[in-house]
Amino acid sequence: MNPQLHISKDPVAVALEFAEMLVALAGQKEKLHVALAGGSTPQLLFDKLASDFIGRIDWRQIQFYWGDERCVPPGHAESNYRMTKKHLFDHINIPADNIHRIRGEKDPLQEAVRYGEVVNSTLPSKNGLPCFDLIMLGLGTDGHTASIFPHEMTLLEQKETCAVATHPDSGQKRVSLTGPVINNADQVAFLVTGSSKQVKVMEIIRKTGNWKGYPASYISPTHGELHWFMDRAAAG
Ligand code: 6PG
Repeated sequence: MNPQLHISKDPVAVALEFAEMLVALAGQKEKLHVALAGGSTPQLLFDKLASDFIGRIDWRQIQFYWGDERCVPPGHAESNYRMTKKHLFDHINIPADNIHRIRGEKDPLQEAVRYGEVVNSTLPSKNGLPCFDLIMLGLGTDGHTASIFPHEMTLLEQKETCAVATHPDSGQKRVSLTGPVINNADQVAFLVTGSSKQVKVMEIIRKTGNWKGYPASYISPTHGELHWFMDRAAAG
């Protein structure tokens, strides 16, 4: 299925558009299983959800997970959980049981197994795999997504729900969802802003240049929908 492109004029407009999609999804089901992206791009979206949209979603409906997490403690500056707590969870009425944190402070291999078991046991199954209602993804300037990096493309096919990844530059360990689970979601939505991503976005969507070398090029839901939420700077 061709990706659905949502191009907005600037990052704020992208955040508002993405938030509206989340409101629409929350209106369709009693319980939503949503995996969040990390990094910096989602911060603005989380700020908007925690302000303009705070009353438009019954947060008790949403079970929050992560597509990936850095193997650092939850209070560490690089923790995706910490960023999400600061920009979203601290401002909304969300039960603690709805937040399924990847325990970055634990042994990476053991946590990948544990978190995989949480996802497998908590989510409904489709095609023999856990099925997220929505997985939010970012895009790295090297074409990575979640923590599937170009030097570890095998994670795109790994059968385990979660795997340990290694950042190519820093060597930092990550726990990441693997390709089959990501592609088994009902909705997969990239959230990408800024001109630094423009070339990669174009190569991935148009399948030109070195697109085959980018993990994000292999995000293609088997039954669900693929969305790209971008500003004009990223969409070119
Ligand atoms: C992470 C992410 C990662 C991120 C991209 C884009 O844990 O870092 O999940 O895949 O989405 O690297 O990061 P920015 O939003 O900071 O550009």
